[in-house]
Amino acid sequence: MPAANQPKKRRVLIASSHGLFAQGLRSLLRERQGEDVEVVGVVSNLAEAMDSLEKLGPDLVIVDYDDEALNRDEFLARFIEGEKKLRVVLLSLQSGKEAIIYDRRTLAAAQIDDWLEEWEFMENGTLSPDGAIDNREKIQNGSVRMENRSKSGKHLVIAGILVVISTIVVAFILQNIRLLPEAASAQAASIDNLFRGEFLVIAFLFSLIVVFMVYSIFVFRRKQGDTTDAGHVTGNTRLEVTWTVLPLVTVLFFAVWGGQSLKEVTRAAADPLVVNVIGQQFAWRFEYPQANGDNIVSDKLYLPVDKPALLQLSSLDVIHSFWVPEFRVKQDALPGGEAFVRPLRITPTITGNYKLRCAELCGAGHTQMESDVIVTSQADFDSWLLGQSNLAADPVARGQKIATTFGCLGCHSVDGARLVGPTWKGLFGSEVPLLDGSQATADEAYLLESIVDPEAKIHQDYPAGVMAATYKDQMTAEQINDLIEFIRSLR
Ligand code: CUA
Repeated sequence: MPAANQPKKRRVLIASSHGLFAQGLRSLLRERQGEDVEVVGVVSNLAEAMDSLEKLGPDLVIVDYDDEALNRDEFLARFIEGEKKLRVVLLSLQSGKEAIIYDRRTLAAAQIDDWLEEWEFMENGTLSPDGAIDNREKIQNGSVRMENRSKSGKHLVIAGILVVISTIVVAFILQNIRLLPEAASAQAASIDNLFRGEFLVIAFLFSLIVVFMVYSIFVFRRKQGDTTDAGHVTGNTRLEVTWTVLPLVTVLFFAVWGGQSLKEVTRAAADPLVVNVIGQQFAWRFEYPQANGDNIVSDKLYLPVDKPALLQLSSLDVIHSFWVPEFRVKQDALPGGEAFVRPLRITPTITGNYKLRCAELCGAGHTQMESDVIVTSQADFDSWLLGQSNLAADPVARGQKIATTFGCLGCHSVDGARLVGPTWKGLFGSEVPLLDGSQATADEAYLLESIVDPEAKIHQDYPAGVMAATYKDQMTAEQINDLIEFIRSLR
């Protein structure tokens, strides 16, 4: 940095064998930089140039780019060898205003406009003793800057108004298109409130980004014939603090709100209807342990309206996830036994039929892992429960019910269709080709073995390790018999 009251003159060396080049450059520099620039010499060949670099110690060398007599490549090669801070401008009069600047320290090339700007900036930053010209320039620059500021203020106001309008429109659209299905549980209200708050923030963020982008594309687009570069922006602390703090506050706000909502949807109600929900690849089973008499098992989830239900979720194999979009709440069903049973509380508020979907990718049949959810009046629910406890006297009908409630039909079809496992249609009494090349007759003993020990004999067209070996614990011997009777009936 030069001393405050003595601005250092820029020492310029001109390298050109054409007298006119040097002459023109001298007057140009005087015009643009006034007293700040001193042309310390003019050289016309490489040897002279290298000599003058030592003797005259210029800050800047301006090289005639078009001068054949001056080997500019060699000059550049020699130029970068030195230690002193120095820059060289390759100036071409033939290609218009274009000029390239090389900095010896960084070896970076720059455009002459950038360099002149940097120079002016440095000069304006110091106090000049004969400040007449400088002050006039400063005043002019200042008024230009003020004008620019009021102009950008105007753009900000317009863009701001457009952001507000766009936010209102987008928020209105988000609230009024049906993004969410009907809310059919008491737990849905607080979750939907949270959604509404998020939609509002989404609408604002979307508008903030899109409005400023589209506005800039149209208002600040390049004018025809304009080949200049945009201004160089290095940073804006106020803006950076704003865009860090505001999102942080917003995210924290939603974290607290979300926590309160979670507390609300998981709050325990007195005397709930308990249903054990068991997921397995690829079916759901529902047990009603509170019902009188037998343990009622169903492949459909029946729930009485307006009665709090406590679903105890578990899985026999991998992680599944219980999700009825109309109820909003969702919970994973985990394998691992008692310790991993997870509660989910739902109070259905609207009677009707819904669809339970598995919301955790759980294998080949994941997309088919659906069950009907039927919300009825308490009276209808009670009579359904009663009907379930009087099982049909027919073993085939019982077997069919077992096949659906235990999820067998998620993998085995009864119509010959190929699913994850072999079809049951025509299975009984047939010859089954096995993986080891032998055959087995699908009789009662074979079916029993395949149910209790699925890996014992593997069908050659189906992969091993798919069927769970847990049915011998889940089903009674009677239930397995009924199931075999059902398979026998599928001719
Ligand atoms: Cu079970 Cu996806």
